[in-house]
Amino acid sequence: MTTPLPGTGGRPAGLPVAAPLFVTADGLPLRLRPAGEEDLPELHRLDREIFKEHAYPYFALRQLYDLFHADLFVLDDGRGFHGYVMAGVNADREGWILGLAIDPRRRGQGLGRRLMAESLRRLRAHGVPAVCLTVEPGNATAIDLYASLGFRPVGHRKGYFGPDADRLVMELTLV
Ligand SMILES: CC(C)(COP(=O)(O)OP(=O)(O)OC[C@H]1O[C@@H](n2cnc3c(N)ncnc32)[C@H](O)[C@@H]1OP(=O)(O)O)[C@@H](O)C(=O)NCCC(=O)NCCS
Repeated sequence: MTTPLPGTGGRPAGLPVAAPLFVTADGLPLRLRPAGEEDLPELHRLDREIFKEHAYPYFALRQLYDLFHADLFVLDDGRGFHGYVMAGVNADREGWILGLAIDPRRRGQGLGRRLMAESLRRLRAHGVPAVCLTVEPGNATAIDLYASLGFRPVGHRKGYFGPDADRLVMELTLV
């Protein structure tokens, strides 16, 4: 769905050079790169745009960044973000996908899959044996994506995020 951009000739000014550039199916040049502390306001903007009242409050995002910045990746066009994925590993060496989102205007082009692949690649490279996530049981798009990556449902947790906020828990074995 996305193709590498030949050479560097088409690189818009201001793009960081650390990660390779690719171009989406609708022609937007993007980098998939780790996020830095200076990216938190833009990440918060995107998170709020997509998840509305369910977005991470800034302070929580900040503390998640402090803990898990090595597993936080963004899709950056040099002016703003079009998606992100955040993962973390707990004290039992269990990986968790803590956030995944793509700008509604960029969905269906393989970007969510690409972010998940990068996150899982890094967790696997660090010897994390299994990764869990939770998803709203009616979110068929996300569930289809996770299932296609090998995640399987391991439980339906009532009230996981509070009253009337059930979650499907899914797990993927990496080793
Ligand atoms: C879930 C989300 C990240 C998927 O991102 P995306 O970039 O659109 O997904 P991709 O284009 O990479 O598609 C990956 C897979 O998702 C599924 N998918 C994507 N769009 C779909 C749709 N409209 N209906 C059903 N499944 C769909 C398919 O399994 C697809 O695989 P395929 O391309 O081989 O058919 C995106 O829809 C999103 O940000 N949703 C809102 C936030 C959210 O729900 N996050 C997950 C919280 S747990």
